[in-house]
Amino acid sequence: MKFFVSLWLALLPLSGVLGTAVPSKYVLSSRQIPKRASRRFRRGLSPSSVSLEDYFNGTDLQWFGSIQVGTPPQNFTVVFDTGSFDLEIPGVSCTSCTNQNKFNGSASSSFQDLQSQSTITFATGVGVDPVVNNDYQLKLDGVRDTISVGGLAAPNISFFLITHPFNSDPFDGILGLGFTVGSFFQSLVNQGLPALFSLYLAPQGSEGAELTLGGIDSTKFNTAMQFAKVQANQDFWNVSSSSIAVNGQTATVLQAPQSLTFDSGTSNLVFPPDITEAIYGLISSDIKPNSAEPGTYGVACSEVPSLNASIEFTFTSTSGTLFNLTIPSSELSVGPFISNTSLCQTLINAQSGPAIVGASLLKHYYTTWDLGNQQLGFAAVNTSEATNSTSGQSIQSSSSKSTIANYGKNLYFVLVPFVLLLALQA
Ligand SMILES: *[C@@H]1O[C@H](CO)[C@@H](O)[C@H](O)[C@H]1NC(C)=O
Ligand SMILES: *[C@@H]1O[C@H](CO)[C@@H](O)[C@H](O)[C@H]1NC(C)=O
Ligand SMILES: *[C@@H]1O[C@H](CO)[C@@H](O)[C@H](O)[C@H]1NC(C)=O
Ligand SMILES: *[C@@H]1O[C@H](CO)[C@@H](O)[C@H](O)[C@H]1NC(C)=O
Ligand SMILES: *[C@@H]1O[C@H](CO)[C@@H](O)[C@H](O)[C@H]1NC(C)=O
Ligand SMILES: *[C@@H]1O[C@H](CO)[C@@H](O)[C@H](O)[C@H]1NC(C)=O
Ligand SMILES: *[C@@H]1O[C@H](CO)[C@@H](O)[C@H](O)[C@H]1NC(C)=O
Ligand SMILES: *[C@@H]1O[C@H](CO)[C@@H](O)[C@H](O)[C@H]1NC(C)=O
Ligand SMILES: *[C@@H]1O[C@H](CO)[C@@H](O)[C@H](O)[C@H]1NC(C)=O
Ligand SMILES: *[C@@H]1O[C@H](CO)[C@@H](O)[C@H](O)[C@H]1NC(C)=O
Repeated sequence: MKFFVSLWLALLPLSGVLGTAVPSKYVLSSRQIPKRASRRFRRGLSPSSVSLEDYFNGTDLQWFGSIQVGTPPQNFTVVFDTGSFDLEIPGVSCTSCTNQNKFNGSASSSFQDLQSQSTITFATGVGVDPVVNNDYQLKLDGVRDTISVGGLAAPNISFFLITHPFNSDPFDGILGLGFTVGSFFQSLVNQGLPALFSLYLAPQGSEGAELTLGGIDSTKFNTAMQFAKVQANQDFWNVSSSSIAVNGQTATVLQAPQSLTFDSGTSNLVFPPDITEAIYGLISSDIKPNSAEPGTYGVACSEVPSLNASIEFTFTSTSGTLFNLTIPSSELSVGPFISNTSLCQTLINAQSGPAIVGASLLKHYYTTWDLGNQQLGFAAVNTSEATNSTSGQSIQSSSSKSTIANYGKNLYFVLVPFVLLLALQA
C-alpha cells in the first residue's frame, strides 16, 4: 500500500503541499466546530467536506478523493495522508503515467517551476498489487501552485510533480495533511479555517467515506467521541497507548507504554518485532514469518475464519478515563500472498522503529485530527455490514496483497526526503 510513500514523504519537513479537491460529490451535512475553534471559524473559512472512494480490490484499506491544482483548476485524485506533509502528482512530462491525470503547469497561470529535480526508488502498491521486488523509480520536480480541496484554496504551495511513473494505483497521487510551515493545511488555517480535520474511512459496503477539513461531521457516527492527547513536539500523530491486549489477554511486553503513530496513509499495522511477535503469539502459533517477504507474517487462509484476533489498545482520554480502540478479527488477514495463494498475510508487519497504525483500525472509527488542541478524537462507527471486507476467504481469487514488506530499503526512504528538501530550497 502506499504506506511506504507515507513514511518517506512524512519525513519531508518542507513545503506545503496540497491539492485542490473538487469532489465529484459534495457532501453537505451538519458539522460541529469545537468550541475553542469557533472564534476562528467565524472570521475565516468554513469547513468543507470531500467524499472519498474506497479502493476495494481484494483489500479494503485505501481511500482517496479529488483535489484541484492550478489556475484554472486541474483535477486529481489523491490519498489523504496524515503521515506526510506534501503533495505529489504526475506531471505532463511523465509519458509513461498512462492511467493517471497529469498536471500541466503551462496551462496554469499561477504555476511556478522551482527548477529542482530529484529521483527516488521505492516499493509500494495498493490493494492486491505486489510490493516485494517491485520497485518504482520516481522522478520528482519541485514546483509551486494553488492547491484546493473541497473548494478551500491555498495559493503558492510547494509540491512535487512525478515525471516518471508511480504505479498503476487507482489514484493519481498523495496529499499529506501534516501541518508544517508552508503546507496546504497550514495555509488554510492561516486563512481562518479551524485547525482540525476529520476522516470517515467507511468500510466496503458502507456509504459516505469522507474527509472534512475544518470540522467534524456528526452525521457519520452516533457514539461519543473520545479524545487522546497527541504527544508534544512530534511531527507525527503519535499517541501513547498504555497497554495492548488480544482477545482480552496481554503479555509483559504489551504492557509497556507504546507510542503509536496514526497514519491514514498506511494500510495495516507496522510494529517493532517484539510487539508483533507478542500479539501474534496471543492469536495463534500458526502465524509465522513469511521469509519470501521479509517483515510479513502469514497463516494458512483456510485457518483464518477460525482465529480470534480482537486487538485492543488502551488509551487515557483527555478527561482522564481509560478507553480502548479495537481492531476486530475481520482484519486479521489482508489477503493471500502472490507467492503462495493459500498463505494469507496477517495484518501486522514487523519492522524495528516506530509503531504505525493504519486503516485496519482507522476504518472502524470516525477520527478527528485536532491540531489546534493537539488531540486525536475517535468515535466508533457501525461496521457490522462490512465484516467480510478483508477476510482471507473473500479474496481467495485475488493474486496478492501488498504492504510494507521491503525493509532493507527503509533507511533509504528515510534519507531521500532530505535530498529533496535541499533540492527544493536551492
Ligand atoms: C473537475 O471535477 C469537477 C467536479 O467533478 C468537474 O465539474 C470539472 O469539470 C472537472 N474539471 C476538469 C478540468 O476536468
Ligand atoms: C499544456 O498547456 C499548454 C498551454 O495551454 C498547451 O499548449 C500544451 O499543449 C499542454 N500540454 C499538454 C501535454 O497537454
Ligand atoms: C485488481 O487486482 C488484480 C490483481 O492484481 C488486477 O489484475 C486488477 O487489474 C485489479 N483491478 C483493479 C480495478 O484495480
Ligand atoms: C510564494 O512562496 C514563496 C516561499 O514561501 C515566497 O518566497 C514567494 O514570495 C511567494 N510568492 C507569492 C506570489 O506569494
Ligand atoms: C461480502 O462478500 C460477498 C461475496 O464475496 C460480496 O458479494 C459482498 O459484496 C461482500 N460484502 C461487503 C460488505 O463487502
Ligand atoms: C480494554 O481492554 C482490556 C483488555 O481486553 C480490558 O481489560 C479493559 O477492561 C478494557 N477497558 C475498557 C475501558 O474498556
Ligand atoms: C503455501 O502455504 C500453505 C499454507 O501455509 C502451506 O501449507 C504450503 O506448504 C505453502 N506452499 C509452499 C509452496 O510454500
Ligand atoms: C473466539 O472467541 C469466542 C468468544 O470469546 C469463543 O466463543 C470462540 O470459541 C473463540 N474461537 C476460537 C477459535 O478460539
Ligand atoms: C512519533 O512517530 C514518529 C514516526 O512514526 C517516530 O519516528 C517517533 O519516534 C515517534 N515519537 C515518539 C516519542 O515515540
Ligand atoms: C448498525 O448496523 C446494523 C446492520 O446494518 C443495524 O441493524 C444497526 O441498526 C446499526 N446500528 C446503528 C447504531 O446504526
